[in-house]
Amino acid sequence: MGKKILIADDSLPTLKLIKKMLENVGYETVLAKNGFEAIMFCRKESPNLIILDIDMPKLDGFEFCKRIKAWNQQIPILFISASKSLDVIEKALGMGAEGYISKPITQKTILPQIEKWLEVVEIREVSRQLENDGGALNAQLVVESLARAAMFRESKGFLQQHSVRTGYYAYHLTKASGGKEREALIILNAMLVHDIGKIGLPDILLNDVDSFSEEEQQHTVMGAQIIGDHDSMLLQSARIIALRHHEQYDGNGYPDGLPGDEIPKIGRIAAIADAFDRLTVRPGNREPWGPERAKQYLETESGKKFDPQLVNLFSEKETFNKVLEVHKTFTVG
Ligand SMILES: [Fe+2]
Ligand SMILES: [Fe+2]
Repeated sequence: MGKKILIADDSLPTLKLIKKMLENVGYETVLAKNGFEAIMFCRKESPNLIILDIDMPKLDGFEFCKRIKAWNQQIPILFISASKSLDVIEKALGMGAEGYISKPITQKTILPQIEKWLEVVEIREVSRQLENDGGALNAQLVVESLARAAMFRESKGFLQQHSVRTGYYAYHLTKASGGKEREALIILNAMLVHDIGKIGLPDILLNDVDSFSEEEQQHTVMGAQIIGDHDSMLLQSARIIALRHHEQYDGNGYPDGLPGDEIPKIGRIAAIADAFDRLTVRPGNREPWGPERAKQYLETESGKKFDPQLVNLFSEKETFNKVLEVHKTFTVG
């Protein structure tokens, strides 16, 4: 789709002339006969560029420019005017407009300016995206490193691949609860480090998944400290999950005994994924429970340890079949 250019001028012949010039080279145009009409259009959608006459009734070009720049500085504004006064040109550029073109308008005077400013906007947009991607990539690398550390620790205990399985359980539960793919993928990755705090626990506690000693409980707080406080959505989620995956819906969990919805949703999802895995891979001399029995346990504890709505979604046939597949694929021995 062509770039959309708003042309605001009270002279109909000028509007038609510029419209024709721009449409000939593939731009879409929107016309406004005064500043108010132009504002009304900008409220509905953002044009890629604005061509703006200075002298217009109701709301002149200067006033329009001031309002638009206060709202969005990314849209280039090119003034057009019959005035050649230096004061007028300086005032226009001083208001943050990107250019000033003297009437009469010709293709040679207007098209190169438009092309140049549209290109500048595109370069700015690409740089912004690269910055965002760079930030996301860094966060992903941090999580991967921490996940390797967590798995190294797990491999010394019975909970081999616990983080991977819980990640996939949480992924499917997030999707079942209406989460978008991106949200589910963030939770999947964040779950990989939910027990990173166990790095700080003595070996003996690693093999005892039923230990809820004060020392063991500290792995939640230590995990959050290891991950740290960051702007990245992934690292923020990882921190919350590390801290909250042992909170209980009835407020009897740890580290803070938060009740119900005071536990962030990702923490409530993580609690179900984590418990299901600990039950079905019970280490030590205890027989692991089958998935059906573990599911029944979650249902018995629905509204007590676990969020009842999330338990229902986890137990639904479609979600649970995916859970079974994960269980089968990633369970060792
Ligand atoms: Fe844990
Ligand atoms: Fe865990």
